[in-house]
Amino acid sequence: MLETEHESSLRVFAVDCDLIDTSELDALTDPSERAAAARYSLLEHRREVLVSRALVRWALSHVQPEVLPRSWAFSRTDAGRPLVVGHDVWFSLSRGRGFVACVVTSDATHSALGIDVEPLETFSSPSTSAVFSAAERQRLERHPEDAAFLWTLKEAYLKARGEGISVKPARVSLKLAARGAEGIRRGAFDYDNLDQDAASWWLGSGSLPTGSPSITHALSVAVKCERCAHSGARIVVETGLFPSV
Ligand SMILES: CC(C)(COP(=O)(O)OP(=O)(O)OC[C@H]1O[C@@H](n2cnc3c(N)ncnc32)[C@H](O)[C@@H]1OP(=O)(O)O)[C@@H](O)C(=O)NCCC(=O)NCCS
Repeated sequence: MLETEHESSLRVFAVDCDLIDTSELDALTDPSERAAAARYSLLEHRREVLVSRALVRWALSHVQPEVLPRSWAFSRTDAGRPLVVGHDVWFSLSRGRGFVACVVTSDATHSALGIDVEPLETFSSPSTSAVFSAAERQRLERHPEDAAFLWTLKEAYLKARGEGISVKPARVSLKLAARGAEGIRRGAFDYDNLDQDAASWWLGSGSLPTGSPSITHALSVAVKCERCAHSGARIVVETGLFPSV
Protein backbone atom coordinates (compact mmCIF):
# COMPACT_ATOMS: atom_id res chain seq x y z
CA MET A 1 0.00 0.00 0.00
CA LEU A 2 1.32 3.42 -0.88
CA GLU A 3 0.25 5.58 2.00
CA THR A 4 0.13 9.31 1.69
CA GLU A 5 -0.51 11.90 4.32
CA HIS A 6 -4.01 12.52 2.99
CA GLU A 7 -5.15 8.92 2.52
CA SER A 8 -3.97 5.44 1.55
CA SER A 9 -5.29 5.10 -1.95
CA LEU A 10 -2.68 3.23 -3.96
CA ARG A 11 -2.26 -0.45 -3.30
CA VAL A 12 0.60 -2.52 -4.64
CA PHE A 13 0.17 -6.29 -4.82
CA ALA A 14 2.99 -8.66 -5.67
CA VAL A 15 3.06 -12.41 -6.09
CA ASP A 16 5.78 -15.01 -6.54
CA CYS A 17 4.38 -17.23 -9.29
CA ASP A 18 6.15 -20.30 -7.88
CA LEU A 19 3.88 -20.11 -4.86
CA ILE A 20 0.70 -20.25 -6.93
CA ASP A 21 -1.15 -23.37 -7.98
CA THR A 22 -2.40 -22.09 -11.33
CA SER A 23 -5.06 -24.80 -11.53
CA GLU A 24 -6.82 -22.89 -8.78
CA LEU A 25 -7.02 -19.63 -10.74
CA ASP A 26 -10.08 -20.50 -12.83
CA ALA A 27 -12.35 -18.57 -10.47
CA LEU A 28 -10.25 -15.46 -11.04
CA THR A 29 -9.73 -15.55 -14.79
CA ASP A 30 -11.89 -15.91 -17.87
CA PRO A 31 -11.57 -18.52 -20.64
CA SER A 32 -10.07 -16.11 -23.17
CA GLU A 33 -7.32 -15.18 -20.71
CA ARG A 34 -6.58 -18.83 -20.00
CA ALA A 35 -6.48 -19.55 -23.74
CA ALA A 36 -4.15 -16.60 -24.38
CA ALA A 37 -1.82 -17.69 -21.58
CA ALA A 38 -1.77 -21.24 -22.95
CA ARG A 39 -0.37 -19.96 -26.25
CA TYR A 40 2.98 -19.05 -24.66
CA SER A 41 5.50 -21.79 -25.37
CA LEU A 42 7.46 -21.50 -22.13
CA LEU A 43 5.82 -22.78 -18.97
CA GLU A 44 7.18 -19.86 -16.92
CA HIS A 45 5.60 -17.36 -19.32
CA ARG A 46 2.28 -19.20 -19.30
CA ARG A 47 2.33 -19.14 -15.53
CA GLU A 48 3.30 -15.46 -15.29
CA VAL A 49 0.61 -14.35 -17.71
CA LEU A 50 -2.10 -16.38 -16.01
CA VAL A 51 -1.07 -15.20 -12.55
CA SER A 52 -0.95 -11.60 -13.79
CA ARG A 53 -4.53 -11.80 -15.09
CA ALA A 54 -5.71 -13.30 -11.82
CA LEU A 55 -3.76 -10.83 -9.69
CA VAL A 56 -5.18 -7.81 -11.49
CA ARG A 57 -8.75 -9.08 -11.19
CA TRP A 58 -8.29 -9.97 -7.55
CA ALA A 59 -6.63 -6.62 -6.76
CA LEU A 60 -9.38 -4.65 -8.50
CA SER A 61 -12.03 -6.51 -6.49
CA HIS A 62 -10.02 -5.84 -3.35
CA VAL A 63 -10.41 -2.12 -4.08
CA GLN A 64 -14.02 -2.42 -5.31
CA PRO A 65 -15.41 -5.49 -3.50
CA GLU A 66 -18.86 -5.11 -5.05
CA VAL A 67 -17.42 -6.35 -8.37
CA LEU A 68 -16.48 -10.04 -8.57
CA PRO A 69 -12.99 -10.79 -9.97
CA ARG A 70 -14.38 -12.52 -13.06
CA SER A 71 -16.74 -9.62 -13.83
CA TRP A 72 -14.07 -7.05 -14.71
CA ALA A 73 -13.83 -6.10 -18.39
CA PHE A 74 -10.81 -4.50 -20.01
CA SER A 75 -9.84 -2.49 -23.06
CA ARG A 76 -6.50 -1.21 -24.31
CA THR A 77 -5.26 2.10 -25.64
CA ASP A 78 -3.51 2.12 -29.02
CA ALA A 79 -0.21 2.17 -27.14
CA GLY A 80 -1.14 -1.01 -25.26
CA ARG A 81 -2.11 0.39 -21.89
CA PRO A 82 -4.83 -1.74 -20.30
CA LEU A 83 -7.89 0.04 -18.92
CA VAL A 84 -10.88 -1.10 -16.88
CA VAL A 85 -14.20 -0.72 -18.69
CA GLY A 86 -17.23 0.67 -16.86
CA HIS A 87 -15.71 1.38 -13.45
CA ASP A 88 -13.61 4.18 -12.03
CA VAL A 89 -10.63 2.09 -11.04
CA TRP A 90 -7.15 2.10 -12.54
CA PHE A 91 -4.18 -0.22 -12.49
CA SER A 92 -0.75 -0.94 -13.86
CA LEU A 93 0.90 -4.33 -14.22
CA SER A 94 4.42 -5.72 -14.47
CA ARG A 95 5.95 -9.17 -14.71
CA GLY A 96 9.56 -9.95 -13.90
CA ARG A 97 10.96 -13.49 -14.12
CA GLY A 98 8.49 -15.46 -12.05
CA PHE A 99 7.12 -12.45 -10.31
CA VAL A 100 4.05 -10.32 -10.91
CA ALA A 101 3.14 -6.97 -9.38
CA CYS A 102 0.29 -4.57 -9.89
CA VAL A 103 -0.73 -1.23 -8.49
CA VAL A 104 -4.40 -0.32 -8.17
CA THR A 105 -6.42 2.73 -7.22
CA SER A 106 -10.03 3.88 -7.23
CA ASP A 107 -8.97 7.49 -6.73
CA ALA A 108 -9.34 9.37 -10.02
CA THR A 109 -6.68 11.86 -8.97
CA HIS A 110 -4.19 8.94 -9.02
CA SER A 111 -5.32 7.44 -12.31
CA ALA A 112 -1.98 8.09 -14.04
CA LEU A 113 -0.04 5.33 -12.32
CA GLY A 114 2.62 2.87 -13.35
CA ILE A 115 4.60 -0.01 -11.90
CA ASP A 116 7.63 -1.97 -13.00
CA VAL A 117 9.59 -4.87 -11.51
CA GLU A 118 12.89 -6.43 -12.50
CA PRO A 119 14.86 -9.24 -10.84
CA LEU A 120 17.97 -7.78 -9.25
CA GLU A 121 20.29 -10.77 -9.71
CA THR A 122 19.88 -11.14 -13.45
CA PHE A 123 19.16 -7.54 -14.41
CA SER A 124 21.21 -6.43 -17.36
CA SER A 125 21.26 -2.70 -17.76
CA PRO A 126 20.25 -1.28 -21.16
CA SER A 127 22.92 1.39 -20.95
CA THR A 128 22.59 3.01 -24.37
CA SER A 129 22.17 6.74 -24.82
CA ALA A 130 18.63 6.14 -26.12
CA VAL A 131 17.68 4.79 -22.71
CA PHE A 132 19.69 6.74 -20.15
CA SER A 133 20.58 10.43 -20.25
CA ALA A 134 24.20 11.56 -19.94
CA ALA A 135 23.59 12.48 -16.29
CA GLU A 136 22.05 9.08 -15.57
CA ARG A 137 24.92 7.23 -17.27
CA GLN A 138 27.48 9.21 -15.29
CA ARG A 139 25.75 8.31 -12.02
CA LEU A 140 25.41 4.65 -13.06
CA GLU A 141 29.14 4.47 -13.73
CA ARG A 142 29.67 5.41 -10.09
CA HIS A 143 26.77 3.29 -8.79
CA PRO A 144 26.07 0.40 -11.17
CA GLU A 145 24.01 -1.26 -8.42
CA ASP A 146 21.36 1.43 -9.00
CA ALA A 147 20.66 0.35 -12.58
CA ALA A 148 17.64 -1.90 -11.90
CA PHE A 149 16.08 0.73 -9.63
CA LEU A 150 16.59 3.55 -12.11
CA TRP A 151 15.36 1.48 -15.04
CA THR A 152 12.22 0.26 -13.26
CA LEU A 153 11.51 3.81 -12.12
CA LYS A 154 11.77 5.04 -15.67
CA GLU A 155 9.55 2.27 -17.00
CA ALA A 156 7.00 2.85 -14.23
CA TYR A 157 6.90 6.53 -15.16
CA LEU A 158 6.54 5.84 -18.89
CA LYS A 159 3.77 3.32 -18.18
CA ALA A 160 2.01 5.82 -15.92
CA ARG A 161 2.04 8.24 -18.84
CA GLY A 162 0.50 5.48 -20.99
CA GLU A 163 3.28 5.63 -23.56
CA GLY A 164 5.56 2.86 -22.40
CA ILE A 165 8.83 2.74 -24.28
CA SER A 166 7.19 3.87 -27.49
CA VAL A 167 8.90 7.15 -26.55
CA LYS A 168 12.65 7.39 -26.22
CA PRO A 169 13.34 6.79 -22.51
CA ALA A 170 16.30 9.21 -22.50
CA ARG A 171 13.84 12.10 -23.00
CA VAL A 172 13.39 11.79 -19.26
CA SER A 173 16.31 11.96 -16.85
CA LEU A 174 15.78 10.68 -13.32
CA LYS A 175 17.81 10.56 -10.16
CA LEU A 176 17.35 8.50 -7.03
CA ALA A 177 17.56 9.90 -3.54
CA ALA A 178 19.15 7.97 -0.68
CA ARG A 179 17.08 5.19 0.87
CA GLY A 180 14.46 6.59 3.22
CA ALA A 181 13.24 5.22 6.52
CA GLU A 182 10.85 2.81 4.79
CA GLY A 183 13.54 1.50 2.45
CA ILE A 184 12.11 3.53 -0.41
CA ARG A 185 14.24 5.73 -2.63
CA ARG A 186 12.32 8.70 -3.91
CA GLY A 187 12.88 9.65 -7.52
CA ALA A 188 13.25 13.14 -8.93
CA PHE A 189 13.77 14.61 -12.39
CA ASP A 190 16.96 16.09 -13.77
CA TYR A 191 14.65 17.04 -16.61
CA ASP A 192 11.48 15.78 -18.25
CA ASN A 193 10.96 16.55 -21.91
CA LEU A 194 7.57 14.82 -21.86
CA ASP A 195 5.72 16.67 -19.10
CA GLN A 196 5.79 20.38 -18.30
CA ASP A 197 4.32 19.52 -14.92
CA ALA A 198 7.05 17.12 -13.75
CA ALA A 199 6.89 18.40 -10.16
CA SER A 200 3.52 16.75 -9.63
CA TRP A 201 4.83 13.19 -9.94
CA TRP A 202 5.50 10.89 -7.01
CA LEU A 203 8.26 8.42 -7.87
CA GLY A 204 9.51 5.67 -5.58
CA SER A 205 11.77 2.65 -5.93
CA GLY A 206 12.85 -0.12 -3.59
CA SER A 207 13.69 -3.78 -3.13
CA LEU A 208 10.68 -5.93 -2.63
CA PRO A 209 10.35 -6.46 1.11
CA THR A 210 9.79 -10.19 1.44
CA GLY A 211 11.22 -12.98 3.53
CA SER A 212 11.96 -15.25 0.58
CA PRO A 213 15.61 -15.24 -0.55
CA SER A 214 14.44 -16.19 -4.05
CA ILE A 215 12.50 -12.94 -4.37
CA THR A 216 14.77 -9.98 -4.75
CA HIS A 217 13.25 -7.60 -7.22
CA ALA A 218 13.57 -3.92 -7.81
CA LEU A 219 10.05 -2.50 -7.77
CA SER A 220 9.16 1.06 -8.75
CA VAL A 221 5.92 2.99 -8.75
CA ALA A 222 5.07 6.29 -10.41
CA VAL A 223 1.87 8.25 -9.86
CA LYS A 224 0.83 11.72 -10.90
CA CYS A 225 -0.40 13.33 -7.73
CA GLU A 226 0.53 16.78 -6.51
CA ARG A 227 -0.29 15.97 -2.90
CA CYS A 228 1.73 12.72 -2.94
CA ALA A 229 4.70 14.43 -4.55
CA HIS A 230 4.94 16.85 -1.66
CA SER A 231 4.12 14.47 1.17
CA GLY A 232 6.05 11.76 2.96
CA ALA A 233 4.47 8.99 0.89
CA ARG A 234 5.72 5.45 1.32
CA ILE A 235 5.14 2.10 -0.30
CA VAL A 236 4.08 -0.99 1.58
CA VAL A 237 3.78 -3.97 -0.72
CA GLU A 238 1.22 -6.65 -0.01
CA THR A 239 2.75 -9.97 -1.06
CA GLY A 240 1.72 -13.57 -0.97
CA LEU A 241 -0.90 -15.97 -2.15
CA PHE A 242 -4.33 -14.97 -3.25
CA PRO A 243 -6.79 -15.27 -0.42
CA SER A 244 -9.80 -17.54 -0.94
CA VAL A 245 -11.74 -16.52 -4.01
C1 LIG B 1 4.89 -1.42 -21.43
C2 LIG B 1 6.28 -1.87 -21.80
C3 LIG B 1 7.25 -0.83 -21.26
C4 LIG B 1 6.52 -3.28 -21.27
O1 LIG B 1 7.45 -3.38 -20.28
P1 LIG B 1 8.12 -4.77 -19.90
O2 LIG B 1 9.09 -4.49 -18.83
O3 LIG B 1 8.59 -5.47 -21.10
O4 LIG B 1 6.92 -5.66 -19.37
P2 LIG B 1 6.10 -5.54 -18.02
O5 LIG B 1 5.71 -6.91 -17.64
O6 LIG B 1 6.79 -4.72 -16.99
O7 LIG B 1 4.81 -4.74 -18.47
C5 LIG B 1 3.92 -5.29 -19.37
C6 LIG B 1 2.55 -4.71 -19.07
O8 LIG B 1 2.60 -3.29 -19.21
C7 LIG B 1 1.29 -2.86 -19.58
N1 LIG B 1 1.42 -1.97 -20.73
C8 LIG B 1 1.65 -2.29 -22.01
N2 LIG B 1 1.71 -1.16 -22.76
C9 LIG B 1 1.53 -0.13 -21.92
C10 LIG B 1 1.47 1.28 -22.10
N3 LIG B 1 1.63 1.86 -23.29
N4 LIG B 1 1.25 2.06 -21.03
C11 LIG B 1 1.09 1.52 -19.81
N5 LIG B 1 1.12 0.17 -19.56
C12 LIG B 1 1.35 -0.63 -20.62
C13 LIG B 1 0.46 -4.11 -19.90
O9 LIG B 1 -0.36 -4.40 -18.78
C14 LIG B 1 1.52 -5.16 -20.07
O10 LIG B 1 1.10 -6.46 -19.72
P3 LIG B 1 -0.02 -7.20 -20.58
O11 LIG B 1 0.22 -6.84 -22.00
O12 LIG B 1 0.18 -8.63 -20.27
O13 LIG B 1 -1.32 -6.67 -20.06
C15 LIG B 1 6.49 -1.99 -23.31
O14 LIG B 1 5.82 -3.14 -23.79
C16 LIG B 1 5.94 -0.81 -24.05
O15 LIG B 1 6.49 0.26 -23.99
N6 LIG B 1 4.85 -0.95 -24.76
C17 LIG B 1 4.20 0.19 -25.40
C18 LIG B 1 4.86 0.58 -26.69
C19 LIG B 1 4.55 -0.34 -27.78
O16 LIG B 1 5.39 -1.10 -28.19
N7 LIG B 1 3.34 -0.30 -28.31
C20 LIG B 1 2.96 -1.13 -29.42
C21 LIG B 1 1.49 -1.03 -29.65
S1 LIG B 1 0.65 -2.29 -28.72
